[in-house]
Amino acid sequence: MVSDTFGRPLRDLRISVTDRCNFRCVYCMPKEVFGRDYRFLPRRELLTFEEIERVASVFVGLGVTKLRITGGEPLVRRDLEVLVERLAALGDLDLTLTTNGALLAQKAKVLAEAGLTRVTVSLDSLDDEVFRAMNDVDFPVARVLNAIDAAAGAGLPVKVNVVVKRGVNDGSVLDMARRFRGTGHTVRFIEYMDVGATNGWRLDDVFPAAEIVRTVGAEFPLEPVEPAYRGEVAERYRYLDDQGEIGVIASVTQPFCGDCTRARLSADGKLYTCLFAVRGHDLRATLRGGADDRELEGSIRAIWERRTDRYSELRTEETAALRKVEMSYIGG
Ligand SMILES: C[S@@+](CC[C@H](N)C(=O)[O-])C[C@H]1O[C@@H](n2cnc3c(N)ncnc32)[C@H](O)[C@@H]1O
Ligand code: SF4
Repeated sequence: MVSDTFGRPLRDLRISVTDRCNFRCVYCMPKEVFGRDYRFLPRRELLTFEEIERVASVFVGLGVTKLRITGGEPLVRRDLEVLVERLAALGDLDLTLTTNGALLAQKAKVLAEAGLTRVTVSLDSLDDEVFRAMNDVDFPVARVLNAIDAAAGAGLPVKVNVVVKRGVNDGSVLDMARRFRGTGHTVRFIEYMDVGATNGWRLDDVFPAAEIVRTVGAEFPLEPVEPAYRGEVAERYRYLDDQGEIGVIASVTQPFCGDCTRARLSADGKLYTCLFAVRGHDLRATLRGGADDRELEGSIRAIWERRTDRYSELRTEETAALRKVEMSYIGG
């Protein structure tokens, strides 16, 4: 086990397997910036599955119990189930995947068979026009709903992530709650965050979590649920009529740095100790420089023990203007 300067243990590792994506969500990879000419990482710069497995196994040795595969869009990386199988073999872990769902329907069964324990599917609206405008590649809602059904059919528990942007899809909040109550799929509403430097974030675009809870609660009464574990990012609320629960992730209006137990590995092997970091630590250089597992563990331990990040709690006009790395690169 290892703790940082604020006594926060290292429990979760988010692994970005690619910086590419088949969507151009306006809040993440806006087309004007990530159009055809954007310089994505060349293949040789990506960690191989063997390298990812090695790094992950060292993290597990240091106390990590939860691995999340993300990106970019993780399912655009070929044969992802092979990586899932290798990671599943590392122990009794919570092994999950965040995806936009575009390629999930055809992959759900092999991923479940490879040992994935659950999946999070992002879907920002049930209104086709709103959703197509938000993903900006004209992708229809029906195909994501179909992917959610395929995942559930393959035995994977499903969560649905909704990023709420004021004036864009705040009108979809209640629809989403209505559609997924009683299905066993928990919807998690996420405040639009100032990650990266390309989405033109403004505080006025944030639809606060408290407003989300009020909106849903006005139609379906809710009560708060105690956090299940330290570092849980979503505040949970249950429907009083036992039709399940929703989560809200209030990273802007109620930052939760004090309990943050997450590290992030970018697709090219940089370790970031905060979503809002400007710089990462080059684990790929350590790996490819011939370090053995003990040396790798020493590097990771030293990075975590020095960790002082609490960006969201310190967020000011000045920090908001920092040249932060993109979420599609670092892994959401
Ligand atoms: C970066 S994506 C990567 C995985 C996959 N492509 C997906 O969309 O689920 C991970 C999550 O981050 C969320 N996200 C992206 N940009 C965001 C932002 N500016 N604020 C809040 N959440 C954001 C996405 O909606 C998604 O649920
Ligand atoms: S949120 Fe996910 S699906 Fe949307 S652009 Fe970012 S990486 Fe792609």
